[in-house]
Amino acid sequence: MATINVGLIGTGYMGKAHALAWRNVGAVFGARPDVRMHTLCDATPELAAAKAAEFGFTRATADWRAMVADPEIDAVSVTTPNALHAEMAIAALKAGKHLWCEKPMAPTLAESEAMAAAARASGRVAILGYNYVQNPLIAQARALIEAGAIGDVNHFRVEMDEDYLADPDAPHSWRSERKSGYGALDDFCVHPLSLVAHLLGPTKEVFGEMAKPYADRPAGAGRRAVETHDIVTALLRLESGVCGTIMADRCAWGRKGRIFVQVYGSKGMIAFDQERFNELQLYVADGPEETRGFRTILSGPAHPPYGRFIAAPGHQIGFNDLKTIECRAFLDRIEGRASTAVDFEAGLAIERTIHAIARAFDDGRWTAVASLSS
Ligand SMILES: NC(=O)c1ccc[n+]([C@@H]2O[C@H](COP(=O)([O-])OP(=O)(O)OC[C@H]3O[C@@H](n4cnc5c(N)ncnc54)[C@H](O)[C@@H]3O)[C@@H](O)[C@H]2O)c1
Repeated sequence: MATINVGLIGTGYMGKAHALAWRNVGAVFGARPDVRMHTLCDATPELAAAKAAEFGFTRATADWRAMVADPEIDAVSVTTPNALHAEMAIAALKAGKHLWCEKPMAPTLAESEAMAAAARASGRVAILGYNYVQNPLIAQARALIEAGAIGDVNHFRVEMDEDYLADPDAPHSWRSERKSGYGALDDFCVHPLSLVAHLLGPTKEVFGEMAKPYADRPAGAGRRAVETHDIVTALLRLESGVCGTIMADRCAWGRKGRIFVQVYGSKGMIAFDQERFNELQLYVADGPEETRGFRTILSGPAHPPYGRFIAAPGHQIGFNDLKTIECRAFLDRIEGRASTAVDFEAGLAIERTIHAIARAFDDGRWTAVASLSS
């Protein structure tokens, strides 16, 4: 494929991140195929046209169905609210497009399974927006674990905290509607689960607890009931036998983008915090006791593909660069090259784990992830 014509649906937070990634992927990676920003879609023609001009798309539309059916378009990015993913993704795959869809797949497991089935039937590439696994230092953490640098892994904890819903008077939005999903479980926990799967392998069984700190939020002239849970705590037992926890909180004052990963082993441990994501902490229990301590590994060209962005170590890459790496992984998969992309099959395993945690919360008992499989 010499060129790839791209259609993007949604121009919000993630829409802009995808647009920047599509614009930058060629310049950063010298990636082929050549990306053409073909059509931008949003809910109104005015918004679509204004953002198309800003982001550098040739055309704009408010009709996503017409856009995904356009024979000129090869690949579609879906960055709309969760409840719209399934319909848009399935239509794009049926129209023969490669697909880059934001996480989570969909609010229900049935919809996620239908998306995965559509991807299989299409023979096209379908990947998800699990950008945090694309961090070069997460690749380094995985390499250290695989090389036995911290010995046999025996415990892990992953916490994801932000405070964008910490204010009880933050406005009601699609994120507090049950039709968008469970709340922090599918909005946040999918990211820790993507990291657990990437670093430590598949999850076997789960136990879960969820909490709703605020009953309602401002909407129009009054207040509207919050239908989702903003706090989740889950216990995980992996296929490997290792146990750990994931926690997520969308009301965690002071936390802006924290994903704190700790992996403990028989010889040491690894710690990583997304708020300082150009740093990896490594503790290895060797050498004299009096000089033992954490080593801070600063990201640099030794951690590919960091050097594609900037030649100097320690100068740091950012969130949108993770999206550019993910875009390159998408192109790699389309071109049949080795790829770090999280595809719909891997995404479906995350969805099953999410729904198993919700089932465990409802039933008050450990739940096997496989019991949620169709
Ligand atoms: N990967 C990540 O780190 C990450 C971070 C934030 C959000 N997300 C995911 O990205 C998705 C979008 O989140 P966001 O924060 O960008 O939301 P947002 O509300 O900022 O943007 C959603 C966009 O979709 C548009 N839209 C809604 N209905 C549409 C329709 N019928 N046709 C065309 N456009 C329509 C909206 O106008 C808006 O531009 C969600 O699934 C969310 O979970 C992922």
